[in-house]
Amino acid sequence: MNKDIKILAIESSCDETAAAVVVNGREVLSNIISSQIDIHKKFGGVVPEVASRKHIEAINWVVESALKEADLELKDIDAIGVTYGPGLVGALLVGLQYAKGLAYALKKPLIGVNHIEGHISANFIEHKDLEPPFVCLVVSGGHTFIVYMKDYGNYEVIGQTRDDAAGEAYDKVARAIGLGYPGGPKIDKLSKEGNENAIKFPRANFHEECLDFSFSGLKSAVLNYLNKMNMTSKEVNNADVAASFQKAVVDVLTDNVIKTCKMKSVDKIAIAGGVASNSALRNNLIEKGAEMGIKVLFPAPILCTDNAAMIGSAAYFEYMRGNVSSLDLNAKPNLKLGER
Ligand code: KG4
Ligand code: ZN
Repeated sequence: MNKDIKILAIESSCDETAAAVVVNGREVLSNIISSQIDIHKKFGGVVPEVASRKHIEAINWVVESALKEADLELKDIDAIGVTYGPGLVGALLVGLQYAKGLAYALKKPLIGVNHIEGHISANFIEHKDLEPPFVCLVVSGGHTFIVYMKDYGNYEVIGQTRDDAAGEAYDKVARAIGLGYPGGPKIDKLSKEGNENAIKFPRANFHEECLDFSFSGLKSAVLNYLNKMNMTSKEVNNADVAASFQKAVVDVLTDNVIKTCKMKSVDKIAIAGGVASNSALRNNLIEKGAEMGIKVLFPAPILCTDNAAMIGSAAYFEYMRGNVSSLDLNAKPNLKLGER
C-alpha cells in the first residue's frame, strides 16, 4: 500500500489566516481559520495593510493549532502547501514566507498553490469520489469563473467576470442597503423575506457564444433604484431589493454554467468560493440541473469561504504530478488559473 501523504497547508491571500493538515488530498485532520472580518467590518471592506499585519500576528498560533489538532508534529509532515496567488500581495507574502521558512528548515518540499485551484479542490474534500471531468463555477469575493476541469491541474476558463466579482457585487449592494460587510450572507438571509420579482434588475448578456459575466451594471441599477426612491421620498423595501438583486445574479450564474455543461457534454457541476454558500444559487442550480440530468455538488460552507484545507487538497494533486516549487517562489497577486 502507498504511504499516506500529509500536507501542512497555509492560506493568507485575503483576510483569513488559515492552516490545515490534509491527508491524500481528501481527508482533513485539522482546518484552523482566524478571520479578520470584525476588524475590516468597520471600514466596509478589507484594508490590505491591516490584513498583512493581522496575518503576521496570527500565523504562528494558527499553524501550531493546525498541527496540534491533527495530533502531528512538523517532522510527520510530508510537504508544505501554500497559496502564492492571486490575492493581496502583502497578505500572500506572510503565508508564503512562513511556508518557505518551514520548508527550508525541515528540508520538506514546498508546493505553491493557486488560490482559485484551492477553491475548486474544496470539492474533492467534500465529495470523496469526485473525479474530473466536471464544470466548476467559482464565485467568491474576488473572482467569478466558469471552469471546465478536464483533468487534475487541467483547467479551461470558459467564462469570467469583466468587472466586479459576484461576491463583490453582493458586498456593494449590501452596503448600499445598510447591511454591512460581508454582505453576501446578509443578502441571502434578507432575501428570504422579500419578493424576487418585485424589481426588474438587468442581466448582462454578451453575444450567444460568450459566457462571461458583468455585475457592475447590475450594481449601478440597484444604486440608481435606491436614489430614485430616495429622491421621490418613496419607501424602499430592502428585502425586495435584496431578493430581486440576488435573483438577477443567480439567474445569470445558473444560465451560463448550464450552457457550459451542454457545450462540453458534462453532467457534473461543482460550485466553489464564498458565494457557493448562497442558498438561492444552490437551490436554483439543483433545480435547473435536475431538469437537464446534471448533478450539482457543493462543499460545506466552511470549505466554501477561504480556508487552508482546500489549499492542502490542491497541493496534494500538484505534488502527485511532481510539481514542487523552488524556495525562491514569489507571491503573484494576479496569478492566472492554470499558470505556474
Ligand atoms: O471565497 P471567499 O471567502 O473570499 C475570496 O476568495 O474572495 O468569499 C467571500 C465572499 C464575500 O464577498 C461574501 O459576501 C460572499 O463570499 N459570501 C456570500 C455568502 N457567503 C459568503 N455571498 C452570497 N451568499 C452567501 N451565503
Ligand atoms: Zn477565496
